[in-house]
Amino acid sequence: MTAIFAHRGFSAIAPENTMAAFRAAEEAGADGIELDVQLTKDGRLAVIHDEKLDRTTNGRGFVKDWEWKELAQLEAKYKFSTLTRDTGIPLLEDVFEWMRENEIICNIELKNNEFPYVGMEEKVIRLIRQFNYESRVIISSFNHYSLTYAYQLAPDLETAALYSSHLYMPWKYAEAIRAGAIHPHIRTVKSEIIRSAVEHGIQIRPYTVNKEKQMKWLIEEGCSAIVTDDPRTALSIRDSILDF
Ligand code: G3P
Ligand code: CA
Repeated sequence: MTAIFAHRGFSAIAPENTMAAFRAAEEAGADGIELDVQLTKDGRLAVIHDEKLDRTTNGRGFVKDWEWKELAQLEAKYKFSTLTRDTGIPLLEDVFEWMRENEIICNIELKNNEFPYVGMEEKVIRLIRQFNYESRVIISSFNHYSLTYAYQLAPDLETAALYSSHLYMPWKYAEAIRAGAIHPHIRTVKSEIIRSAVEHGIQIRPYTVNKEKQMKWLIEEGCSAIVTDDPRTALSIRDSILDF
């Protein structure tokens, strides 16, 4: 069955990458969440999409130039100005604590394409081990050097190659870099890629799938998961297909 992952949480109705969005995803019945991780000046794993604070918070400048105690004071609710709860920047460990209360799968995107964030892989893996979440997490990145490094550090964890171009036989590429999954941009996905990935035991989870027609197609094709801003709609489409 195709799993439904909430992209940056239920980001259609709550501020992305906040506990409000992750809780909303759980309440909607999502199977998983996707989130983005950047490293602070003092080496903490902050859950925020952009390298800079400016778009989603009331702070300014690069995440990497601020210590956590300063970032912890910020609001990350940007366009959802009326919300009052759970709208700060979470740490990855805050999300992991909340995951003790549910069975949500967490797709952790290492945002180390712009800045290398030396030591990020070790920190994420250490936290996964601390919580015993080996079977509940996926480590994804557009930086495939980072993925292969994470694989060397922790071969038991699933890594997922994010990409947005038209890779030829991406399941073969995944095998070559020892990734257990491919996370393609939706515009690059074809039915034969889904089928071949599944046949080769490679998970395939396209992003960011917000059109109902695409959700239906991917679910009917037996895609491993879809990553969407609107998990509620994806879940209702999945239910209607399963009921048929
Ligand atoms: O999980 C895939 C997706 O999150 C990658 O793109 O820019 O939303 O982080 P972006
Ligand atoms: Ca992401």
